[in-house]
Amino acid sequence: MNHAIASSPTLAQRSSGLQPHWTLDWIDYSRICTGLVHDNVELFYLLTSASFIESGSETYTRNLVEHFEAYPPISDWLQHQWEPEELQHGRALKTYVQTVWPEFDWEAAYASFFSEYSRLCTVEELEEERPLELVARCVVETGTATYYQTLRDLTGEPVLADLAEHIRIDEVQHYKHFYRYFKELNAERNLSRGRILGALKRRLTELRTSDSDIALRHVWMFQPHLDGADDVPFEHITQRLYRHMGARLPMEQAVKMLLKPLALPHRMEHWIERPLTLLARRVIAA
Ligand SMILES: [Fe+2]
Ligand SMILES: [Fe+2]
Repeated sequence: MNHAIASSPTLAQRSSGLQPHWTLDWIDYSRICTGLVHDNVELFYLLTSASFIESGSETYTRNLVEHFEAYPPISDWLQHQWEPEELQHGRALKTYVQTVWPEFDWEAAYASFFSEYSRLCTVEELEEERPLELVARCVVETGTATYYQTLRDLTGEPVLADLAEHIRIDEVQHYKHFYRYFKELNAERNLSRGRILGALKRRLTELRTSDSDIALRHVWMFQPHLDGADDVPFEHITQRLYRHMGARLPMEQAVKMLLKPLALPHRMEHWIERPLTLLARRVIAA
């Protein structure tokens, strides 16, 4: 039974594009079963760091819009759909965190996070070749889609499960947009697989080391008293989280999404999917 969304359209309708985009008032925060989530240290870290990164999307959008100003359909979509949706994810997650952990000073921790994070979001960080930046965005959206799918599946808290599913659907749609734009732009440029693979690898490495680490560090600096987290060094917390999430991520699906921009022959794609899935699992859990 759906506790969180009383009269909203079904997720199947939404994902088919027949329904309007969800809004914050679809989420009934008053029905959160706080007892099911409050003492879950991993969940506190995973949700709060995600709320920081989503809320910081504003900085990224400005850079991306500028980067794609020669392609109005892409820059318009980034400005008018992608950014509002990412910011909505940030607001929805922030409200969830503030409802379950009111003792955590979200605003102060976010301000601290943002002062460091905003300095990293510069145009120089983007791939100079526009199709390659779109490949990099596909990597990010693959990461977020699988992240929210994992959150949805690991929580028994119904409001969070619904919220994670709404966000997951958005992230999959973002991936599809970036992938479509990549194909359109690359039809003109026809970049080699080697260059596409290079962009994939660069962004995958960054995913593992930058955004989430910064967000987690600022959550850790401001964390309230939580059983199982007090006096635990930051490195131990992150190792725990990578193991916790890494074992559960739908890696096979992520690998499929990551391989798509390479447009490999079907048989080859099929042949390398499994070893890559195993490798990705080992890298994340390491
Ligand atoms: Fe998002
Ligand atoms: Fe997204």
